[in-house]
Amino acid sequence: MTVTWGLFLSLLFCIAFTTFAETHHHEFKVQEIAARRLCRNHRIVAVNGQFPGPTLEVRNGDSVVVKVTNAAPYNVTIHWHGLRQMRNPWADGPEYVTQCPIQPGGSYTYRFTITDQEGTLWWHAHSRWLRATVYGALVIRPKLGSSYPFPKPKIEFPVILGEWWDRKVISVQRQALFSGAAPNISDAITINGQPGDLLRCSSQGTTKLTVNKGDTVLLRVINAALNQQLFFSVANHKLTVVATDAIYTKQFTTNVIMLGPGQTTDVLLTADQQSGRYYMAARAYESAKNAPFDNTTATAVLEYKSATSQPILPQLPAYNDTNTVTAFSNQIKSPGKVIVPTKIDDNLFITVGLGFFNCTPGPRCQGPNNTRFGASMNNISFVLPRRASLLQAYTQKIPNIYTTDFPPVPPVKFDYTGNVPRGLWQPVKGTKLYKLKFGSSVQIVLQDTSIFSTEDHPVHLHGYHFYVVGQGFGNFNPSRDTANFNLVDPPQRNTIDVPVGGWAAIRFIADNPGVWFMHCHIDAHLAWGFGMAFIVENGVGEAETLLPPPSDLPQC
Ligand code: C2O
Repeated sequence: MTVTWGLFLSLLFCIAFTTFAETHHHEFKVQEIAARRLCRNHRIVAVNGQFPGPTLEVRNGDSVVVKVTNAAPYNVTIHWHGLRQMRNPWADGPEYVTQCPIQPGGSYTYRFTITDQEGTLWWHAHSRWLRATVYGALVIRPKLGSSYPFPKPKIEFPVILGEWWDRKVISVQRQALFSGAAPNISDAITINGQPGDLLRCSSQGTTKLTVNKGDTVLLRVINAALNQQLFFSVANHKLTVVATDAIYTKQFTTNVIMLGPGQTTDVLLTADQQSGRYYMAARAYESAKNAPFDNTTATAVLEYKSATSQPILPQLPAYNDTNTVTAFSNQIKSPGKVIVPTKIDDNLFITVGLGFFNCTPGPRCQGPNNTRFGASMNNISFVLPRRASLLQAYTQKIPNIYTTDFPPVPPVKFDYTGNVPRGLWQPVKGTKLYKLKFGSSVQIVLQDTSIFSTEDHPVHLHGYHFYVVGQGFGNFNPSRDTANFNLVDPPQRNTIDVPVGGWAAIRFIADNPGVWFMHCHIDAHLAWGFGMAFIVENGVGEAETLLPPPSDLPQC
């Protein structure tokens, strides 16, 4: 009797006084596997034999330990896209930025804690183009005892949009980097790894989600595509947006959403239509003029139980429908009033876009007019180091790996979105970082250029989310545009799609020490040099200081 009471009391004690934070242990084995798509057999790099890879399901406050073993013939790293990794860039993952890659046969254990984040994030390889097939969802639910800011949906379903190449992606990238030309476009857009009913030899594998009439469904939509912005819509069903990039938003209803590579959007849907079968569909939003792109439509099926009808397709916007994109993104706001930094310490104005390196005509100069494609931020075309990661170079004071003179403004002023003189088309290569003091409040205006073509660029900042205080078309005009900033309820994101031929202004407090990559999440542009990194210095005391490096951190 006493024993039972004792147990009962200690159980009660546990319920009342623990936070229930858990530690999740996973093993990721990266290896080549066989996969058949578009009527052909392939070998792809995947995690644990699964494509897409395993979904990690955690709660806010939990810790995660993932031992990654590299059984593939390529170097690899894994990035936990959108996780803040407070004081812990060691677990962030971009190769040569925060770590050297895990070599074939090697392993590395990522250890991190989820702090004040809820919603949908994802993980992906951050090593050359491997993320084309090395990715999966990272679902963060509220802590036990707290709940979603909307009625709990009956069904939750990750919808991971991707791109499929009918060749080895590593050779597609290698060929482009050799020739200097643009890489081949993908052969199919995919939903959860499957092109769907509209593509050859694909309908057997089409992703299906079965619902009962009246069910509420939370779709966790992730754009894992390598190089393509995508529209997503579900036939006959309205979508209510509730979160983007694992931050809750003011709720609004729409027929279509658009995601840049890297972005996530959580939408609620109610199965309130006539029992039947409805396509969920994704296809390109392509903002660059005259650029080739994958114009296929990926489909998955939302089917009401025991319905057998032929699925209906949703109406998707035209490939170049920027108006729909603008109308959609203007609706994304924080749920209520937020505290946005107003006194700015570091004010950066960064031009972003493509560029061209002149070169001697030949097999290595296959870009337009005997050039090699490049890309830059403030005219610096970013080059990753090879001897050590930036984070190791910074913490161990290894010289000659990087410089800290990334320019806070463009080296030359010009009409960024006008007719840019050819003399300004060639960027300069460099590994330039920008230093931020701990706690500094930062504003960055990202300005698209019309060099070659204006284009919408999804710019991702590691280790942070930021407020998107303004967006517009044309050249940013500080006196006119600053006055119109939304400092009341701007959305928070980790990836901002800079409007085609326009600009976006973001703000954040540099409260996470480390080396943090900022780059275009279109991998073709990243490989051409569209990136830079911040060093956020330590503050005062342990809580504002980098954690020590893990002992198994890979060496270059
Ligand atoms: Cu999701 Cu640096 O990337």
